[in-house]
Amino acid sequence: MKLVRVVLLSGLVLVGAATGYVYSGLYPMGADVPHSPLTYKVLETLRERSIARASADLEVPNLDNPELLLSGGPDYNEMCASCHLQPGRSQSDMSMGLYPAPPDLSEFHGEENDSRDHGDKAQAARRQFWIIKHGIKASGMPAWGMTHDDDRIWAMVAFLQKLPDLTQVQYQILTARGDEASDHH
Ligand code: HEC
Repeated sequence: MKLVRVVLLSGLVLVGAATGYVYSGLYPMGADVPHSPLTYKVLETLRERSIARASADLEVPNLDNPELLLSGGPDYNEMCASCHLQPGRSQSDMSMGLYPAPPDLSEFHGEENDSRDHGDKAQAARRQFWIIKHGIKASGMPAWGMTHDDDRIWAMVAFLQKLPDLTQVQYQILTARGDEASDHH
């Protein structure tokens, strides 16, 4: 049973080394020091696999409904644009300072970026809905489902589908809040 002993011992040494590293304080915790490419890849895969699995069975409403679009716009402008930007605004303190960085959702085109190409449109919508509702651990992305119902979140997903195609003027029009809705906050 020599092999078993060697395996057990190496396991112990590894756990010991990992624990030592955690307690040593050597890990660079600052948001201004990026992950190594390997760590980044592992975390990205962990995130995407988890979200794909958790969002697989969500039912997507008709996102072309103009009412959804109109109610999602003002919410996006007030709650999201500071991090995720808007037409005519390509950076902010949040977009520069957060790590991982919030993607510029006014520019994002799923089909242009392999790592963000999540198959069909419905799957992309499920993914966005899930992320907005539940947030992403250990990143600046909050879970908006704590304070907003599903209809309101789908409305933001509907708006996100159109956002990359909007000009600055169209953005201003679609995100202006009508008087009757201004008591949301
Ligand atoms: C405080 C900054 C911040 C705010 C405010 C914020 N987000 Fe995020 N969001 C992030 C960060 C950071 C990520 C990336 C997390 C990661 O890569 O793990 C993210 C990721 C996302 C993604 C996934 C993007 C992709 O394709 O990978 C979506 C969709 C999203 N946010 C939508 C929203 C919406 C809608 C709102 C407003 C209701 C919002 N976010 C508000 C920081 C923010």
